[in-house]
Amino acid sequence: MTEYRVTQTAEITPAVVLKNAADPPGEACLGIRKKENGMKKLTELNTEEWIGRVRGLPRAGEEKVLIFYDHRIGGMCRDPRFMLIPLDDHMVHRGDGVFESLHVTEGRILELDAHLERLRHSCGVLELEPPCAWDELRDIVLAVTSAAGEKYCAVKVLLGRGPGGMGVDPAECPESSFFVIVTRSSPLPESFWERGLTACRSAVPAKQPWLAGIKSTNYLPNALMTSEARKHGVDVTFSFDEKGFLAEAAIANVGVIDAEGRLLMPRFTHALPGTTALLAMELAKSMMDVIITDITEEILYAASEILIFGTGPECVAVTHYGGKPVGSGRPGPSGRRLRAVLHEALLAGGTPLLES
Ligand SMILES: Cc1ncc(COP(=O)(O)O)c(C=O)c1O
Repeated sequence: MTEYRVTQTAEITPAVVLKNAADPPGEACLGIRKKENGMKKLTELNTEEWIGRVRGLPRAGEEKVLIFYDHRIGGMCRDPRFMLIPLDDHMVHRGDGVFESLHVTEGRILELDAHLERLRHSCGVLELEPPCAWDELRDIVLAVTSAAGEKYCAVKVLLGRGPGGMGVDPAECPESSFFVIVTRSSPLPESFWERGLTACRSAVPAKQPWLAGIKSTNYLPNALMTSEARKHGVDVTFSFDEKGFLAEAAIANVGVIDAEGRLLMPRFTHALPGTTALLAMELAKSMMDVIITDITEEILYAASEILIFGTGPECVAVTHYGGKPVGSGRPGPSGRRLRAVLHEALLAGGTPLLES
C-alpha cells in the first residue's frame, strides 16, 4: 500500500512550496509531491493553484455529464470538473441524504411527480427539509433537465444534509444541499428486451424495511449486489428477506407471472416501492389478476415469467434464474403486453421539457 506522510513545512524545499505567501495558512490546501527517496511530501497550494489543478485533472465519466445544478451556487454548469460536493456535507461522509433517478424519453420526464413524491417521503423519514419549497424544487428539476437540451437523458436529484462538519449529528448542518445532475443516456435497443436478463439469488440480505422503503444515499447493499452479479456472470441478483421471501433487485423491483397467468408482486416491506412497478401493477389489473404476496425462491423456479420493473428498463423479462430457464427461456407474452401498455402510459403521463 502507498503510504502518505505529512512532513513538516520546514522540510519542504522551496522548489515544491507552491503556497502563496498572501494566503492565510488556514485557507491554503495541501497537495502531494513525490520525493526521490520514495516518500511522499505534501505541498501546500493556494486557492488559485488548487482551482488550476481541478481544471487540469483527468475526470473519469466527464463525457457523460450534460449539465448540473448546485443550489448553494444557485446556477447550472456544464463543466464536469466542477461537479463537486463539499466533503463535510453529511451526504458524503455519513450517507445522510436521499435521491431520485429519473429518465427523459422522447423529450418527456417520465413519472416526475411520482419520483418527487417518493423523494418527499424519503425526506420525511430522515426529517430532511429541502433548501427551497417543493414547488420551486420541481421547477428547478424541470428547468435544469430542459437546459440539457436532449430528448433522451438521465436525471439524478440529490438532497443531502448539507455541509457543516465532520460529525454525525445532523444538527451540525444548517442547510440541506440540493443537486440536479443530467447525464447522457441513449434509448435501449430493442434487442435488450428481446434478449431479456439473467438472474440469481443474492448473498446480500434485503435491507431493513425502514431503509428499504426510502431512496437514501446508503446504496452499499445495492452496489454490492451489482458487483456480485458481475462475478456470477448474470445481469442482476435478487435479495431475500430474513424469512426467505423475495425482496428486490439492486435497482429494480421484481414480479412473477405464475402458471395461472397472475402477476405476483412481493410486499413492499423489504423493497423500494418503485414508481414503475406501482404503475405497472395498476395497468396490469385490467389484463390479469395482480396479487401482492410472499414470494419464495420455489415460486421463482416455478414461474412462467419473471419480470423486472424500473425506471431504466421499464419492464424486462428474466429468461434464466439460478442457471435454469424461466418458462420457455425467452421473454413471455404477459411481459411483452405489459411492457407495451406501460411504455405507452409512461410517455402519455410524461412531463414535456420546457421549450428553450
Ligand atoms: C432499490 C430499488 N428498488 C426498486 C427500484 C425501482 O424504482 P423505480 O421504478 O422508481 O425506478 C429502484 C430504482 O432505482 C431501486 O433503487
